[in-house]
Amino acid sequence: MTEKRVKTIAFANNKGGSGKTTTCANVGYSLSLLGRRVLLIDGDMQLNLTLSFFPEDEVMDYACGEKNLYAAMKKEEDLWDYVVHTPYENLDLVPSSTLMSGIEYELFAKWQRELILSRSLKRLKEEGGYDYILIDAPPTLGGWVMNILCASDYVILPVEASPWG
Ligand SMILES: Nc1ncnc2c1ncn2[C@@H]1O[C@H](COP(=O)(O)OP(=O)(O)OP(=O)(O)O)[C@@H](O)[C@H]1O
Ligand SMILES: [Mg+2]
Repeated sequence: MTEKRVKTIAFANNKGGSGKTTTCANVGYSLSLLGRRVLLIDGDMQLNLTLSFFPEDEVMDYACGEKNLYAAMKKEEDLWDYVVHTPYENLDLVPSSTLMSGIEYELFAKWQRELILSRSLKRLKEEGGYDYILIDAPPTLGGWVMNILCASDYVILPVEASPWG
């Protein structure tokens, strides 16, 4: 019998507004409707993925509190304790924070700084029971996006088709 293995997929493109968050939210929700267990990770300070599934006041409570991705990354903690259940079945999320704007600075002096997200996801990948972990990246190309890519098995790059090529 082959062991079930979670697939981790990043939605990334350093071009802003290319459809990363929309695609990530829609793919995650669609998979959850099919009965797959999905964990979404909002890796962007704009909070748009979190706002896709929670009302604004709740998003701000997460963003200003301690249960968000920034708090976990800053302390290099396991993400297990940072997962919140969305109102939708099979769909969990790690909320973001506006403080993610300072994540590059936080990561700068840490040991193996491009692997911090990867390390913090280890237990969730092994014991979380998820079929998919989907990570929404910000429109940047620095050390934080490197963390997202290092933690992922696949990358989806949404692009806008235009007549300009
Ligand atoms: N497939 C699509 N077709 C048409 N419009 C889309 C599509 N995907 C996203 N959009 C629209 O494009 C805009 C930007 O989408 P979205 O916020 O998902 O991009 P993003 O890459 O996450 O942006 P950012 O880089 O700021 O995080 C939104 O108004 C969204 O509704
Ligand atoms: Mg986005």
